[in-house]
Amino acid sequence: MAKVIAGVTSSHVPAIGAAIDNHRTGEPYWQRVFEGFERSKEWMRNAKPDVVIGVYNDHASAFSVEMIPTFALGTAAEFPIADEGWGPRPVPAVKGHPKLAAHIAQSVILDEFDLTLCNKMEVDHGLTVPLNLMFGTPKEWPCPVIPLAVNVVQYPPPTGHRCFMLGKAIRKAVESYPEDLNVVIFGTGGMSHQISGQRAGLINSKWDKNFLDNLSKDPVKLTKIPHIDYMREAGAEGIEMVMWLVMRGALDDKVEEVYRFYTVPASNTAVGHIILENRIKGAKKSAAKGKKPAPKLKRAAARQKVHRIRS
Ligand SMILES: [Fe+2]
Repeated sequence: MAKVIAGVTSSHVPAIGAAIDNHRTGEPYWQRVFEGFERSKEWMRNAKPDVVIGVYNDHASAFSVEMIPTFALGTAAEFPIADEGWGPRPVPAVKGHPKLAAHIAQSVILDEFDLTLCNKMEVDHGLTVPLNLMFGTPKEWPCPVIPLAVNVVQYPPPTGHRCFMLGKAIRKAVESYPEDLNVVIFGTGGMSHQISGQRAGLINSKWDKNFLDNLSKDPVKLTKIPHIDYMREAGAEGIEMVMWLVMRGALDDKVEEVYRFYTVPASNTAVGHIILENRIKGAKKSAAKGKKPAPKLKRAAARQKVHRIRS
């Protein structure tokens, strides 16, 4: 049986992708951002997921502004990298998992979440930047990735509650898949940021840190936040954080927060990142079949980081 072993959230700031592509990650401005993901890459090397489900939003790359599905699941075998104006990013094409994606589609749609199915779709920085932050810059991504695009670019986006419930339906789908796969789900976007208008450059660290706290401990509270509060408190683009609730809905009510990182700014955005593990026996079972669990020693170090960030 397949299992969701963990959830990861990550900002997907396009400038982070540009810093990677232009070999600027060692510059002082970028160093503090990328250093924050070193432990995450180590965690990912140990977790070795069989499949990633990447919840992200398309930025008028695959769908333009003429047609915007609320939830779009990538069911293709491969997703080419979109040209966002500077040519496609020099990263590997994303390989999908059509069998699991079709299974998720069937299960979730029959659970009354009416997904759009994409048998052909390009993916943009919304998905590729988090893959870089978690996997580095390999020649091929180490596992298949099922993209799930959520509309947060045109009003009305789905509510946080709807996203959370979709996450639960996705988990149910994964757990009814017969093959023994370990799945990690990403929620991307955020944190507070506004890229245009009078409040361009807005960052609200207090809101962001509170959101991270509740994501870990009390996600149901987050599902009650109305869109206007995201806009008011976290800027026009802060609404991207509803996508994190898809990830959180796919996890246990009580999870283990193994790592957190927060820094400002990257471009004009607050970078927030968290790794939450399900406390399920399945992860240990998979470790027993030759996969290492996320390292306990590293968790201790990660907690120190959490403490430092909160102080
Ligand atoms: Fe975005």
